[in-house]
Amino acid sequence: MLPSPTSVVSPHSIFHHPPPPLVTLVVFLVLLILVHKLKRRNHHTTPPLKPRLPPGSMGWPYIGETLKLYTQNPNSFFSNREKRYGEIFKTHILGCPCVMISSPKLAKIVLVSQSHMFKPTYPPSKEKMIGPEAVFFHQGPYHSHLKKLIQSSFLPSAIKGSVSQIEDVVLRFLLTWEHRITINTLHEMKKYAFEVAMLSVFGNKLESEIEGIRDLYQCLEKGYNSMPLDLPGTPFNKAMKARKGLNEKLRRVIEKRKEMSGGEGLLGALLSNEAEGKMKLSESQIADNIIGVIFAAHDTTASVLTWLLKYLHDNPHLLHAVRREQEEIRCKRLEANRRITWDDTRQMPLSTRVIQETLRAASILSFTYREAVEDVEMEGYLIPKGWKVLPLFRSIHYSSHFFPHPHKFDPSRFEVAPRPNTYMPFGKGAHSCPGSELAKLEMLVFLHHLTTTFKWEVIGEDGVQYGPFPVPRDGLPIKVYSANK
Ligand code: HEM
Repeated sequence: MLPSPTSVVSPHSIFHHPPPPLVTLVVFLVLLILVHKLKRRNHHTTPPLKPRLPPGSMGWPYIGETLKLYTQNPNSFFSNREKRYGEIFKTHILGCPCVMISSPKLAKIVLVSQSHMFKPTYPPSKEKMIGPEAVFFHQGPYHSHLKKLIQSSFLPSAIKGSVSQIEDVVLRFLLTWEHRITINTLHEMKKYAFEVAMLSVFGNKLESEIEGIRDLYQCLEKGYNSMPLDLPGTPFNKAMKARKGLNEKLRRVIEKRKEMSGGEGLLGALLSNEAEGKMKLSESQIADNIIGVIFAAHDTTASVLTWLLKYLHDNPHLLHAVRREQEEIRCKRLEANRRITWDDTRQMPLSTRVIQETLRAASILSFTYREAVEDVEMEGYLIPKGWKVLPLFRSIHYSSHFFPHPHKFDPSRFEVAPRPNTYMPFGKGAHSCPGSELAKLEMLVFLHHLTTTFKWEVIGEDGVQYGPFPVPRDGLPIKVYSANK
């Protein structure tokens, strides 16, 4: 917090008639000592200087540094400024003054220890589309109540029972790969992650309305990253119509579920809360959070899975070792004539480290946004109220202090736990990801069947695209072959 400025005491002097020379000297010396003492006292009572803004450039009037960020590789944008200004610097993006931070210590202050000073912030168009009552947009009691409910649906104890259902989705998907030569990895992973998200939200018993929800959701997604121009025919306008349609369909599903007292999945948890007479959630609060969770679960996991295939392809020795690990589990399964289990997924140390390293190297959420709710002083710098604050996860994940040779894909670095607050693929603090265990589980189950059934070869060129998450160029087209060939 900033100290309030106090007034500065001005020095004063005392003069009498001209005195004789010796007396003058003594008086002069006494005065000198007095003035010196006064000066020292004044020095102590002067308040500390008002903190300065962090170093950095605010760019051009109005446009700030937006063009620079959007016309160059965002990683270079951040790393160039970090090299020049250090771990906290200011800039101006999309009409907003921002402070970017790239040290674990400062990220912890923003996301954990002083998180009440920094509220989540999203463009109003995104809030409208997902639903303003979704968990992301809130702080305080409403947020913590919702977060507990959502988290309870995605704890290991809650998702353990869904391994077979996730496996069914994987097997259904991979069956369709058998007769295809080329696959667009990102498209396929999106379909897979969407199915798992639907499963975790609605459970295994799906009502007739669910098909309609799928179609409307696809339409909503298309408009999400479009210009927020609400005119007839624009993708944004179509997405907003789809959002209204989703409300209607969800309302009907909620009504049916109430009759059967809750049911499975997140929806069941949100409704059972109501039955237990705790803070009652309205239908629109439930709908906004159902859409919000599908949204948060789906593109993120699909993008990480796409990188997983890319990194394994580029590191054949690792792919070989992962395949060996998975083959051993497969042999045990076949001997016992059983499906994959939760316990199997806990016996995949190398595959788990490969996923951890993929999350670091891909850093698909390069940063997150918060907004200072009042003037905040940090490391002697001022972050004014209303400014955006961006903890840069990717910069921390690529710091050679915490991850030696950060550009090398090296899962063995996770044989030792990372230092506190240096590894944040799922965020940190009150808004950290409640779906991290589900995401890792669906990646492990997928990896098990993929590596024991198929080999793949990347076709097309290297490169990264942003849509909005960084993903391999063109969604990573691959050729697939049977693993036994
Ligand atoms: C690999 C996949 C995933 C990654 C990398 C990821 C990453 C993140 C990160 C970094 C945050 C924190 C954002 C912030 O602090 O502003 C977050 C929040 C969130 N994630 Fe995930 N996530 C993934 C998968 C999932 C899944 C599968 C679910 C569904 C259960 C999910 C649901 C959520 C929700 C609801 C929030 C908001 C929490 C809050 O605001 O309190 N995520 N995620």
